[in-house]
Amino acid sequence: MNNRRKIAAGNWKMHKTLLEGQGLAHEIRTMAETELMNNAEIIIFPPFIHLVTLKKQLEGSPIQIGAQNMNQHEQGAYTGEISAAMLSSIGMNYVLIGHSERRQYYNETNDSCASKINVALAKGLQVVYCIGETLEERNDTKHFTVIENQLEALKGLSSSEMKSVVLAYEPVWAIGTGVTASAEQANEMHQHIRNVVSTLFNNEVAEGVSILYGGSVKPDNAKGLFGMSDIDGALIGGAALSSRDFIDIAKSF
Ligand code: PGA
Repeated sequence: MNNRRKIAAGNWKMHKTLLEGQGLAHEIRTMAETELMNNAEIIIFPPFIHLVTLKKQLEGSPIQIGAQNMNQHEQGAYTGEISAAMLSSIGMNYVLIGHSERRQYYNETNDSCASKINVALAKGLQVVYCIGETLEERNDTKHFTVIENQLEALKGLSSSEMKSVVLAYEPVWAIGTGVTASAEQANEMHQHIRNVVSTLFNNEVAEGVSILYGGSVKPDNAKGLFGMSDIDGALIGGAALSSRDFIDIAKSF
């Protein structure tokens, strides 16, 4: 057993109206407070416009809350964008950076992710940095190299800043597809990620960083994943839209 933080994080993506989101948050809170007996941390990532309301609603609860994205610039003429300082000012605990859907549909690169990570940390946010290879990259056996390149975005951070970083390995081929990487496949990559972090920083940082797995995590596969040596939790999409499934996953540590 290690003493890394165990985390169940729910990425709501572009789902739920405000009323529906309030209902889901209420159910998650109630179930977490009455059923969750382990020390798992629970984080939800609702859409931007729900954040202020849900932050208030969840006050005094064990549920932490974060944003799904932010802009890499500190401030300026970037119509429609949200800054790290704004997220900080409404009490956000976390921000997701580099989700594969953002890389795929909004041209996010390792460089823009690096800028975002730096700005987020400077504004006191904790970062969940998402990395993962496509099916094509895995079939070409490039998956380890792809991950190494994505982890370059952490270069230049201090060891103490790394305490505010959580990594999420999400193979693109397993997201929303119903196909999960096997627990062994996922753990193999998590170990590789830890080795890369050790090279970029040191062994202590590598052993301390929580690495979540994401991609079709459900109550029936969570236990197998969490039982692996280097899997410290999950970033959950579809199943996080059901309070029952989300809490059952969090209970699987
Ligand atoms: P999924 O999504 O659980 O629906 O596969 C995971 C994610 O994209 O974070």
